[in-house]
Amino acid sequence: MKVLIVDTFSAKAMDELKAAGIEVIYDTKMKGDLLTEGLKANKPEVLVVRSTKVQVPQLDAGAPELKMVVRAGSGYDTIDTAAAKERNVAVCNTPGMNATAVAELVFGFILTSDRYLHENIQLFREGKWAKGKYAKCHGIKGSTLGLIGFGNIGKLVCDRARAFEMNIIAYDPFIPAATMEAAGAKVTTDIYEIAANCDFITIHVPGGEKTKGMVNDAFLSKMRPGSVIINTSRATIIDEPALIKHVTERGIRACVDVMSNEPAEKEGEFKHPFGEVPGILVSHHIGASTVQAESAIGEEALRVVLSFAQKGEILHRVN
Ligand code: 3PG
Repeated sequence: MKVLIVDTFSAKAMDELKAAGIEVIYDTKMKGDLLTEGLKANKPEVLVVRSTKVQVPQLDAGAPELKMVVRAGSGYDTIDTAAAKERNVAVCNTPGMNATAVAELVFGFILTSDRYLHENIQLFREGKWAKGKYAKCHGIKGSTLGLIGFGNIGKLVCDRARAFEMNIIAYDPFIPAATMEAAGAKVTTDIYEIAANCDFITIHVPGGEKTKGMVNDAFLSKMRPGSVIINTSRATIIDEPALIKHVTERGIRACVDVMSNEPAEKEGEFKHPFGEVPGILVSHHIGASTVQAESAIGEEALRVVLSFAQKGEILHRVN
């Protein structure tokens, strides 16, 4: 069997694939047309990607050999799953493997925004001392965290919030209220209750049409000035112009790991309107990018590929 891997992937998992007799081609430059060409030239049975887009041209280029696309990660909105299904290509992901890494980043954002660590560091670099200014930070014990989405990641954020003695309000129409309550959250069926009553709000829902613009002008209008919205899920969930407006005009604060038009490459120049807004802290879509997560994702992607290669079993199919 031939496997083409086109995004950063665990070296250990690749060695294990090779040890199992699988031919592995690893080329992280294959994006867009280059990926289309790479699929035509190599004809793999399995394609492994992270955020690299897999759309109709790539699926057609891989036909008829391509049988499986493995999304080494959780979100698969970069893959045309319906077109894949029509072509009998299974799309599989590795759910939950990056959940800890994302939950940890959320707490990085909560602590940074509460204590203004980004400003502390910047001022110090500029040779300024501002102990008095930053003594006015509130502290997060007893503050209220709103969780939108209580899947693998939301649950881990909730566990960590309890350790910080935060109050938690959770919204997830797909999870039984009892599950969320057992984890220590108060449950609401009204997303605006989260908007209006939380100091920090963090979003853990998938991308796609159903969640597009979930955080829109109406939602942001209900948030209190000074409260913080954190998006480590998908850019489409937040109406970006509305967010900029509410941050600029009403003192809402935001921390985002995802944004529109993110580069496909790992390094390079990138300008985005968020970069002009001091109240929006941005990280570089690193939620799932820790050594631990990469290893866990690699192990699970390995299991998906080996199960298919050795037993014809398809794990974690999403289409
Ligand atoms: C995911 O959906 O798994 C995360 O957004 C991570 O994406 P990445 O694999 O491109 O880092």
